[in-house]
Amino acid sequence: MKINFKITVFLLLFMVSAIGCEKKEEVEEQVNVETLTLKSAFSDDFFIGSAVNDNHINGKDTLALQLIGKEFNTLTPENIMKWMNIHPEENTFNYDMSDQYVALGEKNNMHIVGHTLVWHSQLAPYINTISDSATMADNLKSHINTIVGKYKGRIHSWDVVNEALNEDGTLRESIFLKVMGNDYINYAFQLAALADPAAELNYNDYNLWKPEKRAGVVQLVKDLQAKGTKIDGVGMQAHWSLEGPSIEDIENSILAYSDLGVKVMFTELDVTVLPNPWDLNGAAVEQNYDKFEGDPTMNPYPNTLPDSIQNKLAKRYEDIFNLFLKHKDKISRVTFWGVHDGQSWLNDWPIKGRTNHPLLFDRKLNPKKAYQQIIGLKKQN
Ligand code: XIL
Repeated sequence: MKINFKITVFLLLFMVSAIGCEKKEEVEEQVNVETLTLKSAFSDDFFIGSAVNDNHINGKDTLALQLIGKEFNTLTPENIMKWMNIHPEENTFNYDMSDQYVALGEKNNMHIVGHTLVWHSQLAPYINTISDSATMADNLKSHINTIVGKYKGRIHSWDVVNEALNEDGTLRESIFLKVMGNDYINYAFQLAALADPAAELNYNDYNLWKPEKRAGVVQLVKDLQAKGTKIDGVGMQAHWSLEGPSIEDIENSILAYSDLGVKVMFTELDVTVLPNPWDLNGAAVEQNYDKFEGDPTMNPYPNTLPDSIQNKLAKRYEDIFNLFLKHKDKISRVTFWGVHDGQSWLNDWPIKGRTNHPLLFDRKLNPKKAYQQIIGLKKQN
């Protein structure tokens, strides 16, 4: 009897402690899941990041900065490294903001992107006055050598050429094309590779899901490769909407680009929820829709986003991230174009003064349903 009693007590204690352990494991599991952030959730898949603006870089926006440090492991400068800002005159380079930007990325141990070296928009005015090929080549050389050289080993990835294609896949008549001919693209990539051989060099553009434009990118990459010029990736900007593009079109582009042996990146992701009754023609920043300013039908959610649209946005992001995860072996980075809705360029483009809700964090920096949905994809696994 005594022995049996001892054995029973022992067994009971053993069972209680075993149940206790199981509970603890469950709790620990829950804690881990609850504390998932974007960067921890997708750490085995791709870099995940955000574009940052002046107030992030100079440290004034402390709340957004905390969020950036917690959620993201890659940064892109929204405006400060564009030609008109970093190199406004032939012999003037402004490194004040770019130095702070790189320091911010380094402090957080992040993958640091340079955006962008050669683009027809937000260009310094002196470039538009150049009319001969040799002078243009000299200016490209000075711009790329100086900036890429200055941040050699510190900026890990460059958008070397941005938006060089028309919607039909032909080359855009930019000042660079007009003055130098189509070799300006090859020249820009060669200069960047010389200035920092270890940096990742990418071509970046919008509407790269479109079959005709996709064919243009494929040609562009093949031309560079045929010349032995280094190109590492294609950045699909990904300024999308609730309705389009289709997952199938995006997928076809992922496959077409990765078939060329280059990485695919989603470099400027946002999903507009506002009406676009005109043909927006992608994200060309020079389009102007002043006549719609102040029109309430074009700004239907000035205060909060109704649940029905919040849910649609969450579903859209879920579909998009399901595709990204399906092709995580081909995708190296996903970057949102802004930290939270209040800072998105889509509040002022293409119509000024609207209230858009395109990102994962709302104006109070709280995660939206879309955020939970995306993190939820990882919880399931
Ligand atoms: C946008 C910025 O977000 C705005 O603040 C600025 O006024 C215009 O440019 N494609 C790009 C980005 O490559 O650099 C653009 O950024 C959005 C479209």
